[in-house]
Amino acid sequence: MKDTLILGIESSCDETAAAVVKNGREVLSDVISSQIALHTQYGGVVPELASRKHIENINTVIRSAMAEAGTRWEDIDAIGVTYGPGLVGALLVGVAEAKALAFALGKPLVGVNHIEGHVCASLIEHPDLEPPFLCLIVSGGHTYLAVMKDFGKFQILGATRDDAAGEAFDKVARAIGLGYPGGPKIEKAARSGNPQAFAIPRGKVDGSAYDFSFSGMKSAALNEINRLKMQNLPVVQEDFAASFQAAVVDVLVSHAMRAAADLGQKRLVMAGGVAANGALRAALGEACEKAGIKFCFPSPIFCTDNAAMIGVAAYYHYIRGERSDWSLNAVPNLRLSRES
Ligand code: KG4
Ligand code: ZN
Repeated sequence: MKDTLILGIESSCDETAAAVVKNGREVLSDVISSQIALHTQYGGVVPELASRKHIENINTVIRSAMAEAGTRWEDIDAIGVTYGPGLVGALLVGVAEAKALAFALGKPLVGVNHIEGHVCASLIEHPDLEPPFLCLIVSGGHTYLAVMKDFGKFQILGATRDDAAGEAFDKVARAIGLGYPGGPKIEKAARSGNPQAFAIPRGKVDGSAYDFSFSGMKSAALNEINRLKMQNLPVVQEDFAASFQAAVVDVLVSHAMRAAADLGQKRLVMAGGVAANGALRAALGEACEKAGIKFCFPSPIFCTDNAAMIGVAAYYHYIRGERSDWSLNAVPNLRLSRES
């Protein structure tokens, strides 16, 4: 049978990325041009600068992905592209590029939900993994507990009521002077810190067992930092990072395990940038082992934004005959489909 090759394109935030994926699982190339150095000087992603950087880099990134994969344009079966959620100007660059390529080459176009892409990242290294399964999605902009029933079909069990998990890491990291991007810096500092040094409340949401609230935890942490500063006491970055990380990990693990028990789910897939966190991977791994749950998560490079995951998701929609038409547009607040 002929191989199916998808060119995936991702530009929803601060990474310009392209990848060639074979038969939905095999990554032939995965090129990521990160803008971290550019945004670090501003302490976070500056949307207009992100769009400008994408437009500068996108052709080079796509050419590299094609060259690394050793793929000819005529062998590409479809172009998959992230069309939301994300920063509108950033998304538009990828969407316009994908439409131009599909139009000029006469290839099908498949718009991909970035969040579904994150979940599909686990399919790359777990060849037998197929929906349905429970998933914990923890990124810079989103936190969801959901059952992926099929491609494009999610039953949302819980979501954050305020900040996303990654956003809370980023804000607390900035407050203790660790800078951007906060998640990896908190993880590094936490390795030599005491997780019991500060009491961070575990955020609860009244009336919902599965929703999250990280803003209260973040505010409690920021108040503690201010109190110490007012008293001229030092904020030991390592202890603070370890205490905050432990609190976030606790909440994510307890929610995910409760959902798995309540729904009788025997597989848990973790996705998104925060899924790269070693403490979270270890704690969820241990909890899943105790509960007899198979736990899947991607290598760190496939946790944060990349185009391989977009190529995987696009493949499964493509083989189901789904196509986007020429009116495909950026949808900054695109939601995961709801299927209860
Ligand atoms: O999935 P992602 O690359 O972008 C979005 O779709 O939002 O996630 C980025 C987020 C950032 O908030 C970053 O601080 C967090 O993931 N992150 C981490 C780690 N690596 C990235 N958080 C905790 N520990 C990490 N090692
Ligand atoms: Zn992402």
